[in-house]
This record gives sequence, structure tokens and C-alpha cells, in this order.
Amino acid sequence: MLFISYHFMEQMPIPPLGVRGLKTLLFISGTRPEVIKLAPLIHAFRQQPQAFECRVCFTGQHRELALQAFDFFGIQPDYDLNLMQEKQGLPGLTASLMTALQPVFQQEKPDLVFVQGDTTTAFCGALAAYYAGIPVAHVEAGLRTGFIRSPFPEEFNRIAISKIAAYHFAPTEAARQNLLREGVPDLAITVTGNTGVDALLWAKTQVEKQKSPELEAFQQQLDPKNRRIALVTLHRRENQGAIMAGMQQALSTLATRYPEVLFVLPVHPNPQVRTALEPLAGLPNMRLTQPLSYEIFVWLLAESYLILTDSGGIQEEAPSLGKPVVVLREHTERPEALEAGTAILAGISPEDILETVSKLMDDAVAYEAMVAQCAQNPFGDGRACERILAQITNSFK
Ligand code: UD1
Ligand code: UDP
Repeated sequence: MLFISYHFMEQMPIPPLGVRGLKTLLFISGTRPEVIKLAPLIHAFRQQPQAFECRVCFTGQHRELALQAFDFFGIQPDYDLNLMQEKQGLPGLTASLMTALQPVFQQEKPDLVFVQGDTTTAFCGALAAYYAGIPVAHVEAGLRTGFIRSPFPEEFNRIAISKIAAYHFAPTEAARQNLLREGVPDLAITVTGNTGVDALLWAKTQVEKQKSPELEAFQQQLDPKNRRIALVTLHRRENQGAIMAGMQQALSTLATRYPEVLFVLPVHPNPQVRTALEPLAGLPNMRLTQPLSYEIFVWLLAESYLILTDSGGIQEEAPSLGKPVVVLREHTERPEALEAGTAILAGISPEDILETVSKLMDDAVAYEAMVAQCAQNPFGDGRACERILAQITNSFK
């Protein structure tokens, strides 16, 4: 059955999706997490070449971070808009995305556009599709903190995408409920699990089957010597500046308090983040590294004792590897992790971070209780892409 809902855009002409024949799908991504979370979906659709022609547009919002991920998943983008600028601001990025995406739509005339999550690439991809009169499928729809500036600008981006999208692929029931509250019709929503869990499980199998020479070299170099590993990542725009400086101080105190723990911190290439975290480089049990390839990162996640992060994707991945997460943020759009007990929202002040992390380092019972909660990942079972493929295939019938 064909079902398209333009719940806030009743006046817009609906393209004729319900016609049989080969359909062109355009997948738009620009940052590392979008590439990782769309990769298994692109592979799933590519396994149906009689029904779908898949085109991949990489905006280049990120450069090396995203290209590493494409490489790992063996996907070659059809378009590379090459947009990244050093210290890019949101107005310039938004303007260049809108200008550069239009010719891609004119060239491909896709039947359906896929965007993922809440980045500026995803927002502009959806907006450009709307301007071109092409329906949008939103993967990872319905996440909300309820605070328009946290995360910034992602909370706005995902709300805006929900106003445009025809298909809303919600990872969880809570995300579905958020969409229903905003007036998205039930029939337009499919609860799928997060495609990031599909990607992770695939990557884990690959790492178990065969390690790349890069991973072997990293393992040798890291040499944890049976020490517990605390894996740390930080990047959120709303935390940059004074808040991230406070987090750096908290990490420094933790490294001194727990000299037997090895803190590994792959530093995001954002210059603001680099500058904030640089002072940690001199500590003997702190390893600041370049951003790690997805293969190496997945291996390191599995080796870690505890994850400290402001990342969204890592919160979704960690439970599948049995790893508790301390979320270094004030608000979360992933309450499922808190409810399931796989993550703790520590807040952003150094005192709160020290207290939460110290408890999990010192109290084996509290730590093991969190590990036990990871037995079932609240974000997915690895079959999200299968459900999205089924829904879209059904819609074209
Ligand atoms: C972006 C997304 C954020 C997502 C994050 C994932 C927006 C507004 N933000 O944030 O939602 O969680 O990606 O990592 O869409 N840089 C490089 N090389 C790279 C990537 C980035 O040098 O491969 C540097 C550049 O100086 C760039 C800066 O990082 O200007 C910031 O990149 P940007 O995409 O604007 O923001 P992120 O903080 O990465
Ligand atoms: N990741 C990676 N290498 C790293 C850090 C993270 O491959 O050095 C992966 C991680 O496994 C997850 C994704 O990048 O799949 C998360 O990206 P990020 O934290 O940048 O963005 P967010 O998920 O917060 O949007």
C-alpha cells in the first residue's frame, strides 16, 4: 500500500510513488555518524537491484572522519560536494549545502531521499528535497530533548526534518511517541531500532573474522598491560568553550586519581575541541589519539571498562558490547539508556562528572549492575535496515 504523509504540507503536490518500476533512492550523508548509520541501509537496498537504484551523495560536511567510514563499509559516494571548511560556522555551512544539493536533485530526479539523524547535512538534505518536491525518509526520527538549544543545533534540525518527512523511521517506541505528540500520523511511523546497531554488529563480526594491519598496529601501540581502559570522546557544540574546559579539568583529576586506569581519548578534529583537550596530553595514563577508524574504535569499545562521552551514536553502540556509559551532557534525547540502566547522565560540571565516574571506578557492584543491564540493547536488535527495506518496498507496491 502506498502511504505518504505530508502532515504539515497538505498543499504540496505528492509525487507519484506508487508506480511500479525501478526506483531511484538518494542517500544523503555528510558526517561520520550519518555515514556509519546509513551504510548498512545502502547495502540492504543494493541487494534489491531489480527494485532500487541507490545513489549516494556525500556532502563533505566532514572530511577524513566520514571518508574513513565510507572506506570501512566499501561504499563509494556518487557525489562528493566537498564542502568542509576549517572551523565552519552554521550559516555558511547551511548556505553552501543548500546551493550544492540542488543540482544533485536536478541530475538524479530521485523518487525518494534518505536523510539520517539531525546534522546540518540531514536538515539541508530534507529541506532541499522539499524544495524539489521529492519525498523524504527520515532514519532515526523522533529523538527529542525538549530543549531547542540542547543539543545545538540538532534539536531544531530533527524537529524541522519531522515536519518535512513522509516516512519516519523511529528507533524506539519513545521516539514514536514523540512524533505522535507532534502530530505525525501513526501510519507514517515505523519503529525499527537504530541502524547504528546493525552497523556495529556487522563491524564486530568483521573485526572478529579479520583484523586490518592498522588495527594490529594500534593494539601493539596501545599496550594497556591489563589496565582498565576508560574511553573518552567529546565534541558537542553546546559544550565547547568553558564547559569543555571544565570537562578537561575533570578528566585530568580522574587520571591523577586513578593512575592504574588508561584513559584513551580519540580527539575530534574540530579545532575548538583539540584546543580544549590538548592540556591532557602530558599525563602519563592519558593517550590522546587521532580520530580512530570505525574498525579500531569498535575494537576499543569492546576492550574498554567504561565509556565517557557526549556522543549520541556511542551511547547506542555501547550496550551491545556490554559497556556502561557516562554521558557528559545536561540533557539527553536517549532516555531509553537511562531507563534501561545502560547509561548515566552525569551532567557537565566537573564535580558531577568526578562523582559519577569515581562511583563506577570504585564500586564493583554498581558497575556490574550496569553491565548486566546491557544484556538487552534498548536501541535495537540489528534488524533495523531489514524493517526499513520492508516498509519502503511495501510502499512502492
Ligand atoms: C557534526 C554535527 C553533529 C554530529 C557530529 C558528529 C552539525 C551542526 N553537527 O558536528 O550533529 O554529532 O558532526 O561528529 O551538523 N573537522 C575536520 N575534519 C573532519 C570533520 C570535522 O577537520 O573530518 C573539523 C573542521 O574544522 C570543521 C569542524 O571540525 O569545521 C566542525 O565540523 P562540523 O561538521 O561543523 O561540526 P561537528 O562538531 O563535527
Ligand atoms: N567513532 C569512530 N571513531 C572515533 C570515534 C567515534 O569511528 O574515533 C564512531 C562511533 O563508533 C560512532 C560514531 O563514530 O559510530 C559516533 O560519532 P560522533 O560521536 O562523532 O557523533 P554523534 O553520534 O554524537 O552524532
